[in-house]
Order: sequence, then structure tokens, then C-alpha cells
Amino acid sequence: MALLPILCFPDPRLHKVAQPVQAVDARIKALIADMFETMYHAHGIGLAATQIDVHERLIVIDTSEERDQPLVLINPEIIWASAEMKVNDEGCLSVPGIYDGVERHEAVHVRALDGEGQSRVIEADGLLAVCIQHEMDHLLGKVFVEYLSPLKRNRIKTKMLKVQREERR
Ligand code: NI
Repeated sequence: MALLPILCFPDPRLHKVAQPVQAVDARIKALIADMFETMYHAHGIGLAATQIDVHERLIVIDTSEERDQPLVLINPEIIWASAEMKVNDEGCLSVPGIYDGVERHEAVHVRALDGEGQSRVIEADGLLAVCIQHEMDHLLGKVFVEYLSPLKRNRIKTKMLKVQREERR
């Protein structure tokens, strides 16, 4: 297993649209293991392949307190979403240190392949529903700061670029 570098906003590669995973083979399984290792190491609750510069529809999630409920979503599709919406504070491993409110469906049902390539439906609400919607946005090339006002987004962009410049020194 290996830790993978996570792309940081405003890296343009975060805006690439991911393609469907063609087969849940040894390459994808190794990638899943590396993505979990990377996500747990970074203390994240979700990681989309887009964030590690792999543009395939693959997400790993663990929203449990104990960090012992890994969830793999391959080629996820939302098949139902609640009419009820809710604003939650979100953060992102690709936008470190930034948290802000985003409106999402309170609950969603998602059809996806699991890590063995089996099709399943996940009925999610609360934090898991937020996380799934956030990660699925990544696969479409969308970062959560794009829901914020242009003013806020530009402030975040400036801050991120400054941090990245300082890290390179
Ligand atoms: Ni994110």
C-alpha cells in the first residue's frame, strides 16, 4: 500500500470529469487500498479518485467514529434524493483548513458497485448522505467551494495559493 498525493484547490485537474470504471480488477483493488490508506492518514471521511489525479468514478468513504466502516462506491448513481434540503458545514482534503456551509439533499439512495464489483444500493442520510454528495461532485470535477459566493471562493483561492507557495519554499 502507499500514500498518494492529494491534489489541492485550485489545481485544474480537480475539474476533470471522471470516466466509469471498466472493471473491478486487481488495479482498481490496489487503488482502493491506497485510497483508504491515504484518506485515513489525512483524517478524512471521504476521498474521490479525482483528488488523487485518477479520473475514474471511484470513491472511498468512512464516516464512522471508530474508522472501521470502510465503504467503496464504484460508478455511483443517485437513484433517489429527498426533497428536504439541509445546510451543513463541509470541509475537503483538497481545500485544507476551509469549512463552510453547503446545501445538500438530507437523504439519498445510491446504486454503486462495491469493492468486489457487486451492485448494491446504499440508503444514506445525515453525515453519510452529505459525504456521498460531496464526493460524487468531485467525480464531476466540482469542488465544494464552488457552491460559495464568488467573493468567498476567490478569498479561498488566494489563501490556498499563498499556503502552497509557502510550502514550496
Ligand atoms: Ni472533497
